[in-house]
Amino acid sequence: MNTEKKSLRDVWSSRWAFILVATGSAVGLGNIWKFPYIAGENGGGAFVLVYLLCIAIIGIPVMMAEIMVGRSGKQNTVNTLKSIAKKEGRDPAWRFIAWVGVAAGFIILSYYSVIAGEALAYVFRAFGGTFEGVTADGAQNIYKSLTDDPERLLAWHTVFMVITMTVAARGIKNGLEKLIKVLMPALVVMLLLLVGFAANTGEYFTQAVDFLFSPDFSKLTRAGVLTAMGHAFFTLSLGMGAIMVYGSYLPKDISIAKVTVAIAFADTLIALLAGLAIFPLVFANDLSTNAGPGLIFETLPIAFGHMAGGQLFGGIFFVLLVFAAWSSAISLIEPAISWLVENKQISRRRASVTAGFAVWLLGLLTVFSFNVGSHWLLFGMTLFELLDYLTANIMLPLGGLFVTLFAGWIMSQKSSRGELAIKSDFVYRSWLFLVRYVSPVAISIIFLNIIGLLG
Ligand code: PHE
Repeated sequence: MNTEKKSLRDVWSSRWAFILVATGSAVGLGNIWKFPYIAGENGGGAFVLVYLLCIAIIGIPVMMAEIMVGRSGKQNTVNTLKSIAKKEGRDPAWRFIAWVGVAAGFIILSYYSVIAGEALAYVFRAFGGTFEGVTADGAQNIYKSLTDDPERLLAWHTVFMVITMTVAARGIKNGLEKLIKVLMPALVVMLLLLVGFAANTGEYFTQAVDFLFSPDFSKLTRAGVLTAMGHAFFTLSLGMGAIMVYGSYLPKDISIAKVTVAIAFADTLIALLAGLAIFPLVFANDLSTNAGPGLIFETLPIAFGHMAGGQLFGGIFFVLLVFAAWSSAISLIEPAISWLVENKQISRRRASVTAGFAVWLLGLLTVFSFNVGSHWLLFGMTLFELLDYLTANIMLPLGGLFVTLFAGWIMSQKSSRGELAIKSDFVYRSWLFLVRYVSPVAISIIFLNIIGLLG
């Protein structure tokens, strides 16, 4: 019994509740906004295949490792890593992984909030009938007029940060859990509706299925492989401690392997549905698959503008997207907040205000990178692109790499086996093999390959 820590911290109310909040963290802009546009930019099928492989052989074992480490430490990520390392007689400096994670969460949230703000702006445009009968050109203009205006972007970014920090300040168990129970099923229904609309485009739907699912490896670059792996981490919320800290609130008797598979499955399904909703519209309207971050904002309005009840459905859809982003945003900042609360002894409220303000400020870089600062380039990327690249393609996979090393080599097998409590020896051994060898080697190869060290 760990009575000493239980008194301090909440635990999730059930297995189902954990699946929902972790899925709430996983499913967000990554699935609906980012996955389609990066799949589009990287040529489709082959990229999607690599992404799916990364989910299966890296994402799932890493997620199990994070939940396991989190539950076994039962504290914020920094303390958890430190105390486990100490217990195993290893260097407590392993906690630096948690610091990288906290930083990654800050940076990701800084641009995540700007994009979520755009979705929020779209709620009003959709309900207000702006998309009625809109053409592809019209939809592009609507998006451009939003991103060209730093004041508007800033205002929506501010609103999103305020609602995120308000919930974060209250603690994640109350509110979040209940909200997500309604939200997730509703999101799936809306996506199915959009896929249904897209399916009506006939040949274009087939073309989209082809684009997403028949791999053409000549279109896959090294950079594309890194992006696919990075996205596997991003979409499953791995490599920065969000899932680890959620795992720290997980009751003992719940099977980590089963919940992980359920979360990864739901997350992947939602991303693929988003792709199937969007690409038929891209092809039907002769748009480019290369549209980048504006892709969903420039395609979905066309669907809503032409379907019966589109004004209502469009509004509902963007509301759901904002909610999905909201529950992910809260998890992005949770490692920082739990550290501030547990180690600096400040209230959750103060922790949320402080962390939230810092993130908000950092978000200005992204706000400006769409307009006044669109020509501020570093390494050939805008500031938004740079922050995204740095976090999703580098910091998260690196964090994941260290997590696998920590779970596979620093934690003793006795500890990891006890915590995972997998009945089948074969399943435990397979997991161990994946975290000890397969994931770290795969991540390293992809990194080395990008640096050009592997030919
Ligand atoms: N998984 C979230 C998404 O796909 C983003 C996220 C990344 C959340 C990392 C937490 C940690 O939108």
